[in-house]
Amino acid sequence: MAEVEARNISISYGSFKALQELNLKISHGEFLVLLGPSGCGKSTLLNAVAGLQEISAGQIWISGRNVTWAEPKDRGIAMVFQSYALYPKMSVRENLSFGLRVSGMPKEEIARRVSRAAETLQLSAMLDRRPSELSGGQRQRVAIGRVLVRDAEVFLFDEPLSNLDAQLRVELRREIKRLHRTLRATSLYVTHDQVEALTLADRIAVMNKGKIEQIGSPAEIYERPSTRYVAAFIGSPAMNFLEGGIETVSGEPVFKWGDRSIPLQHYAFTDAGDQRSASFGIRPEHLVFGDRAAAQDFHGEFVIDMLEPMGSDTLAWCNAGSGQTIGLRAPSEMRLAEGDRIPIGISAKNASIFDAASGRRV
Ligand SMILES: Nc1ncnc2c1ncn2[C@@H]1O[C@H](COP(=O)(O)OP(=O)(O)OP(=O)(O)O)[C@@H](O)[C@H]1O
Ligand SMILES: [Mg+2]
Repeated sequence: MAEVEARNISISYGSFKALQELNLKISHGEFLVLLGPSGCGKSTLLNAVAGLQEISAGQIWISGRNVTWAEPKDRGIAMVFQSYALYPKMSVRENLSFGLRVSGMPKEEIARRVSRAAETLQLSAMLDRRPSELSGGQRQRVAIGRVLVRDAEVFLFDEPLSNLDAQLRVELRREIKRLHRTLRATSLYVTHDQVEALTLADRIAVMNKGKIEQIGSPAEIYERPSTRYVAAFIGSPAMNFLEGGIETVSGEPVFKWGDRSIPLQHYAFTDAGDQRSASFGIRPEHLVFGDRAAAQDFHGEFVIDMLEPMGSDTLAWCNAGSGQTIGLRAPSEMRLAEGDRIPIGISAKNASIFDAASGRRV
């Protein structure tokens, strides 16, 4: 079974702690995405699994073996890097087969693997071209192909799509997903792109400053973020936050900001719901407007400050009082205008509320 496990990994660069006692377990056949902003330690962790990065403390286990001190080539892994340096003077076929030829594999076996990888990645018609005769997406596919021809049990990807334009990213993202459906290789995939994480992952590990903040399925991470950091990182447009406090009115908890308040009877508190400063998070698609607004836990009128047309829908940024703004998605055919007053409803069960001091979900 090709499981990958990082046990209590710490990595320091001088006095800077890049990873702090990090634990992560990837199951056989799982596609796990490491997601986080630049500098949070994603590549450091991936490189530690690959054996390209010395670790200060902890262990790496792959397929039930402690590989902490094993050479990269003895770990049963194959890695796709962000900068997919292909050999410019070699054809696609030669690029794909280079590693296998060096290892002394018989010619027929090499030919068989190259043609299978080329077929999977739709490169069969381009095997005799040089990298300079390929598009960016085709080159990236060759880089992935070099990994496919190997006998790896574990695939590691470090932002393999980040050098591509938006449209190619979407295409190759789908191809990587299809590839994983076919091969079911245990995969660890690094990205700072939350859409890539949501679309590809079986589970997402959201990293912050050398630690994992939350790990879970895309739906869990999106719907029940455990910290404000995770909530703000996932989702586009981002979750709205109203800054205020939890208070008790007539024995029931409410969220108050300025002179407005939202009853919280229908909010699933994870703790006692005590009075305190808090952020009330609500995703743009959960703001209800028009006739249905009145049926929600809260409804009120908001003035539209700014509109951002997005084609199929429009983002309406509204003044929520006390200097705060909330954004909602409206169908473009609603023909909203800046300055309009619109009724907005909020249902507390769709909210994520975070303690202002700790940032943790309440
Ligand atoms: N060789 C090094 N010496 C000192 N600090 C380093 C070294 N390599 C990385 N770092 C620091 O460690 C932290 C984590 O780096 P890492 O490359 O893992 O980040 P990342 O999450 O992959 O970011 P990005 O999305 O930008 O690739 C960063 O703050 C970085 O500056
Ligand atoms: Mg990196």
